[in-house]
Amino acid sequence: MTDYIWKKDSTGEVDERVMRFLAGQDVVLDRELLPFDIRASKAHARGLARIDVLTAAQADAMAESLDRLQAAFVSGEFVLDERFEDGHSAIESWLIGELGEIGGRIHAGRSRNDQVAVALRLYMKDRLRQLAAVCASIARICLERAERESGLALPGHTHLQQAMPSSLGLWWAGHAEAFIDNLALARDIGAWLDASPLGTASGFGVNLPLDRDGVAEELGFPRLVINPQYAQNARGKVELRALDALSAATADLRRLSWDLSLFASQEFGFVKVSAAFCTGSSIMPNKHNPDAVELLRALHGTVVGARAELEAVLGLPSGYQRDLQDTKPPLIRAFARGIDGLSLVPGLLEGLEWDAERMRATIAPELHATDRANELVGQGQPFRAAYRQAAAELDDLAGRKPESSLEARVSPGGCANLLLDRLHERLDMLDQPDPWVQTSAPSGHG
Ligand code: ARG
Repeated sequence: MTDYIWKKDSTGEVDERVMRFLAGQDVVLDRELLPFDIRASKAHARGLARIDVLTAAQADAMAESLDRLQAAFVSGEFVLDERFEDGHSAIESWLIGELGEIGGRIHAGRSRNDQVAVALRLYMKDRLRQLAAVCASIARICLERAERESGLALPGHTHLQQAMPSSLGLWWAGHAEAFIDNLALARDIGAWLDASPLGTASGFGVNLPLDRDGVAEELGFPRLVINPQYAQNARGKVELRALDALSAATADLRRLSWDLSLFASQEFGFVKVSAAFCTGSSIMPNKHNPDAVELLRALHGTVVGARAELEAVLGLPSGYQRDLQDTKPPLIRAFARGIDGLSLVPGLLEGLEWDAERMRATIAPELHATDRANELVGQGQPFRAAYRQAAAELDDLAGRKPESSLEARVSPGGCANLLLDRLHERLDMLDQPDPWVQTSAPSGHG
């Protein structure tokens, strides 16, 4: 361990076991945060130069040194490990190692408390951007397949009982709309937490005229977390919302996976999951198991568990408490696993092969009963009377074709009128390269 950055003459003997416990997984988790911490440190150095705490040359030297740290971290030449207490200490040690006394100036006007808070906000923005992008690609594939396969009939279920003839178009478009909503949520929550806590220091501000707005702007934040106490109290609160966005997507993925799991069973036999997403059995030579579908279904459990773990940490009084460190593991674990899993979904969906014949053949004639009742409504009957007549004449439905049922389902959103163009339009509107550019919110700078 390099010397602790907080070591001073009055520091007593530190128990290494206690220190190891305090650090926990911190240096490992901080590997995810280090690039964001480096970016924020560069902006902080430039901000210090603007208020003459550093010279321009010193700030430039720091920025260049931080670029070298970033490159060394990416190449693996610099490893963030137990030599350091955390990523924040590693940055300061690197700067002092490269620049000597100048490096030791980086911590003016900041604390690890606002340093970790800003790194986490940048991290969450980045992960929510990835979440938004993967939701968009899932929605796009669903929409493409909805278009291509709109006319293919399959039985629609309620209560897992056959209900009415439905179409793959409707099934795909339903999942598309879910992921468009999830994309919107990722964007909204990303915009909601898009505020810079940097420059609030330990939670009380500092007696330096920090250029907080300028630093925030350089980091791409449209506004500040203004109050230093709230900058700390918001830790965990924003992480929970970020996990909400992730969990909306994994919850819909769970449902989609459930459908596929059922449809791929021998009893349904509607769909074949591509071999790339299946494994075999160690004992049963006949098996091809859609394991990927099942672990994608389980992903939501990971996210919900992480959310519960995070929430349990938060019963705290105002200001920084070291407990807050324990909000990092569930957040980082859930996003790592969540994005990994969601990124597999486009390939999984592209590879699905439907057995159109079998799906069509499974539709029993009586599934046309609702159509029949509504036809009688069209002829002027009150619905309840039409319902009873259709129920009494189920045997008359034998000759009906699923295709005619689908073609007649003209209500907006229904099988004959999926309104895919409207879904496309909303997707295109939301799927922007920089999802945080807000159309309505005024900038907080000035
Ligand atoms: N690892 C710490 C956290 O995540 C960083 C902040 C440490 N601050 C302190 N005052 N010890 O909360």
